[in-house]
Amino acid sequence: MKKITALRFPILLLSMLIGVNIIAQKTTVQNIEPRVEALIAKMTLDEKIGQLNQVVGDISTGTDVSKDDLLAQVRAGTVGSILSHTNFDNKITIQRAAVGSRLGIPIIFGFDVIHGYKTIFPIPLAQAASWDMGLIERIDRIAATEATADGQNWAFAPMLDVSWDPRWGRVMEGAGEDPFLGSRVAEARIRGFQGNNLADPTTLAACAKHFAGYGFGEAGRDYNTVDMSEQRLREMVLPPFEAAAKAGCATFMNAFNTLNGVPGSMNKHLLTDILRGEWGWKGMVVGDWNSFGETIVHGAAENDVDAAAKCLSAGSDMDMAGGTFQRGLKKALTTGRVTQAQIDEAVRRVLRLKYSLGLFDNPFLQLDPKRRDATLEKPEFRETAREAAAKSMVLLKNEGGLLPLTTSGPFKKIAIIGPYADSKGKKDYMSFWTLGLGMRDYDSTKIVTPAQALKPTLEKMGFTVTVTEICLDATCTEKDYSVARTASRDADLVIVCLGESGFDCGESRSVSNIQLNKDQERIFKFFTSGKPSVMVLFNSRPMVFDWVSENTPAILVAWQPGFEAGNALADVLVGKVNPSGKLPVTFPRNVGQVPLHYNHLNTGRPQQTTGQMWTSGYLDSPATPAYPFGYGLSYTTFSYSNISMTKSQYKMGESVDVSVTVTNTGDLAGEEVVQLYIQDISADISRPVKELKGFQKVMLAKGERRTISFRLTEKDLSYWNNELKFKADAGNFKVYVGGNSRDVKEAGFELIR
Ligand code: BGC
Repeated sequence: MKKITALRFPILLLSMLIGVNIIAQKTTVQNIEPRVEALIAKMTLDEKIGQLNQVVGDISTGTDVSKDDLLAQVRAGTVGSILSHTNFDNKITIQRAAVGSRLGIPIIFGFDVIHGYKTIFPIPLAQAASWDMGLIERIDRIAATEATADGQNWAFAPMLDVSWDPRWGRVMEGAGEDPFLGSRVAEARIRGFQGNNLADPTTLAACAKHFAGYGFGEAGRDYNTVDMSEQRLREMVLPPFEAAAKAGCATFMNAFNTLNGVPGSMNKHLLTDILRGEWGWKGMVVGDWNSFGETIVHGAAENDVDAAAKCLSAGSDMDMAGGTFQRGLKKALTTGRVTQAQIDEAVRRVLRLKYSLGLFDNPFLQLDPKRRDATLEKPEFRETAREAAAKSMVLLKNEGGLLPLTTSGPFKKIAIIGPYADSKGKKDYMSFWTLGLGMRDYDSTKIVTPAQALKPTLEKMGFTVTVTEICLDATCTEKDYSVARTASRDADLVIVCLGESGFDCGESRSVSNIQLNKDQERIFKFFTSGKPSVMVLFNSRPMVFDWVSENTPAILVAWQPGFEAGNALADVLVGKVNPSGKLPVTFPRNVGQVPLHYNHLNTGRPQQTTGQMWTSGYLDSPATPAYPFGYGLSYTTFSYSNISMTKSQYKMGESVDVSVTVTNTGDLAGEEVVQLYIQDISADISRPVKELKGFQKVMLAKGERRTISFRLTEKDLSYWNNELKFKADAGNFKVYVGGNSRDVKEAGFELIR
């Protein structure tokens, strides 16, 4: 029998006193339903609506909860969940108040656990660039371990919005442009958060967000209108959500945007027909921040009552931070806009989640101060953060094998310069999720800057190193520039750290220009002229840096790497880690090409060469990207040969086997992401020129050759046709295998009935 802890004893006593036996019977899969029903039978309408009400915690105020009215609301049973609450002791106070309320229903605490909780990992887009699902799962396992130790029960992650638009600020929070890669990342992240058992003290409920279409806002503007065919929705937007539903993701979150005119929170087609109907998903749907209330601003609801009725009827359950249900749902019921059964169903979903998380068994399971102190920011978490940051970096250019840096090479004196060389305290290398909004007690000393790690590492190897951080704002002085000028003049290799701050990307941070800003380009030209150089880009989105691409021999995309930025960068630049990241998004040549994605249709006039008239292109730019989806170099080289299939014809339903030989032809061991694409060339409708259908990340020793096999099923060959049927068409297919979406080997087969 479990020991009754000091905390549990008063709860037990209290619950006995108030006559509600909340912990005597341990939750099991079998008894959740009867317990939920028994509780619902005891609840008043206010208490029911209370369970559907999620309120904001101490996000901006850091309030002393005992002084504000949050506790009173919790005691009255009119709050079911609190989001963005950081103060640990206050969480205990709040949970005590909840347990002491008439029915003793515990609060569920939700938080944006986007790329780590206390230990900060690379941004999600960077993680996707690792194409390493085991690593991504481990990251969220750690994030969940920390978050649950700090009293959080529920993560508002993963964000599964596919996006083709680098202007959109939230592109940093997703897995990029591809629904197949996005689906695999979704599964890995959900496994990481939820493990095998939601009731485990270290697991968080995950939340698939934002359902749906949020990544396709017109013109890349956040929250903007989305209008797309049902076919594109099902092909490009929904697959990661379906994967999440099938992986048992406990909750879903609505999207802010309208989709074909209907705001996400009141979209019955998405929530009831597809999510709960077609996919058979049984979890709870939470709104996004005041998204129920925003249905009124969208002009799709008249007032709180109308909004509450429409959101609940569509299939949304919990109202985040808006109070619309609090103000409107009762009247919606009394005026017949919704039924008691509809309210009960939403409450049931909330209670089920709380039972599944073990909150009724022990509401303080994740509020143990000892566990908190023993868990947060363990040194081994930082090791994973370092591994993750290094594995997500993408080497775009490495002329003449300039990298990795070795003392046997031509360089002896290295200057490290640029605004992101040593930007301690300026909130770089992170994201607004981990820095802003008063959400964390942020301590900049936890970040290892590039210079802090690179300088000692390179010096130890025998290089002479100078570091000059160039500021870009009004505080820059002539002296800063002249110091850097001297340093770069004296050096024989210049490492320039450019990019954007983590604050330049994220929610409500869309931009109309994704060009590396002019000051940085000027710095780059000024300090590197005539010298070999490496550009290290710290970025949250695909950026345009055409001048640099043409004029520097080496480019490394480091993204926003998190706490271990510097160590990971040093590992990659000196070759301790051989880069293996591949772009999960296309890098365009200019913003005018956006949206640019690899899985486009061919058109009737595909362009063969730049400038070719009467084809689908531009007069002033190539139509091709600067760097394609899936692209990334290694310090070694790989060759692909012998792409073969077992047969040239396959019957519908038969599995299609493809194999390829990959050889490490360089001088070092290295990892390669072997990518499999298909093209349906004689379908009933036009199909994408390539669709990712498989990938494997493999480590090959120097000279090693390995046969890599893939199996395609009928499902992989199927698509949503114009009659909205998901099916494969008989006819010819091409199969491509390679290390990116452009440079591939080709085979083909015929699918017959
Ligand atoms: C974002 C969500 C987030 C929520 C809570 C909203 O503004 O769109 O993704 O989970 O805030 O912080």
